[in-house]
Amino acid sequence: MKQIFIANWKMNLNVEESLDLVKKIDSLLKKNKDTEKNDVVVCPSFLSLWAINNYFNQKKSKIKLGAQNIFWEEKGAFTGEISPKMLKEVNCQYAIIGHSERRENLWESDQMINQKVRTALKFGLTPVVCVGETFEERKRGQRDSVIGRQVGRALEGVKKNEFRKIIIAYEPVWVIGIGQAVEPEDAAYSHHLIRKVLFKSYSEKIVAKDLRVIYGGSVNPDNIDSFICQDGIDGVLVGSASLEADKLVKMVKSFSCPKRKK
Ligand code: 13P
Repeated sequence: MKQIFIANWKMNLNVEESLDLVKKIDSLLKKNKDTEKNDVVVCPSFLSLWAINNYFNQKKSKIKLGAQNIFWEEKGAFTGEISPKMLKEVNCQYAIIGHSERRENLWESDQMINQKVRTALKFGLTPVVCVGETFEERKRGQRDSVIGRQVGRALEGVKKNEFRKIIIAYEPVWVIGIGQAVEPEDAAYSHHLIRKVLFKSYSEKIVAKDLRVIYGGSVNPDNIDSFICQDGIDGVLVGSASLEADKLVKMVKSFSCPKRKK
């Protein structure tokens, strides 16, 4: 299974800045064939998707495009929303769903997240489902139950044949954007927990073979190796550090762990 590097640019970078960054990593990937062993995905703002897709087409880029959110309907009277079908038109292959910033600031519920996951799958987008506990929940000893609930509810009704397209991103809310990640072993524990939760609904074999579980939360060029070399961590979802060209290029370049078992 390929490891995956996903850059989430959140509400940063205008169209020009996004294109600049994309050009830098595209030329790096083309020079360094080793990096092709992994999937590299960028998730810019909706406004930049069109221009970046045109650039990727022109340059036959290997970088893939992702959206930071989707709506759960195909079309209609939903002011301000973006449908999965529109995202497919600009060749989006991935969609981040249920990011903690949306759960918190926009009151996205487990039910909304589940609807989005199912719609993404229906339209052939790979959902990158974000789960993770807040600091208060962790202090109260609720990490496992929060992760269990979020994973279980997000995937309710997802069939076995759709399941293999899903990526789960474990992002402990309290380390997002602070520059200090959790210990890699701590993240690995949550990754194992996520798989264990899913053994109940999907066969152990499918979960082990097909599900990618990735880590997000203050990943940077100095700590990225310690995460991707952990057993059971299949990639990273990077925010702040992916906004700076030199850091982004460094991370994508060093993104492989030969020692890794799975
Ligand atoms: P940071 O890398 O800035 O902590 O953000 C992580 C994140 O939220 C990615 O989705």
